[in-house]
Amino acid sequence: IRAAVFASGAGSNFQAIMERSDLQCDISLLVCDKPSASVLEKAENFGVPTFVFDPKKYASKSNYEKEVVRRLQQANISWIFLAGYMRIVGPTLLNAYETKIINIHPSLLPYFPGKDAIGQAYQAGVSTTGVTVHYIDEGIDTGTVIAQEPVEVFSDDTEETLKERIQQVEHRLYPIVINRLMK
Ligand code: GRF
Repeated sequence: IRAAVFASGAGSNFQAIMERSDLQCDISLLVCDKPSASVLEKAENFGVPTFVFDPKKYASKSNYEKEVVRRLQQANISWIFLAGYMRIVGPTLLNAYETKIINIHPSLLPYFPGKDAIGQAYQAGVSTTGVTVHYIDEGIDTGTVIAQEPVEVFSDDTEETLKERIQQVEHRLYPIVINRLMK
């Protein structure tokens, strides 16, 4: 099974997926919408081909998504794992890969969807937040939940220490869920 990871930033989840020695699929492409993202160095280190695009150079979302779909099909990709991809998936990509796009989000959805979920949870003062892996649909972080794991917020947590613990859970959970779906 050939899969693509989509990422816009640091790529710690991409790295965690790549480091999983028994991953049940081949990560054959990294798609990135930020030419300066450090995930690109990680892809190079792992020898994963990249498709990097600048959305500003396209007239619309459907224009760049058509190009993305073309690249995915060219590489025979059948699954997409979003890992810090900071764009809303539009109908062009969604229709081409229906039920084959999943995402990892750093909260217990439906709580704290959208950007800065960790900061939102921290500011709200909840005692438990967590991590969700879910299917992508046309909404923002609204798709069917596949797996969730709670993370306790400690009274002496800073946003930074909370983020570290959440990311540790992400790095463990995402490859496990991926392997389960590949069966
Ligand atoms: C992760 O916290 C993920 O849940 C969210 O974006 C972050 C990406 O981090 N969607 P990284 O680029 O994988 O380090």
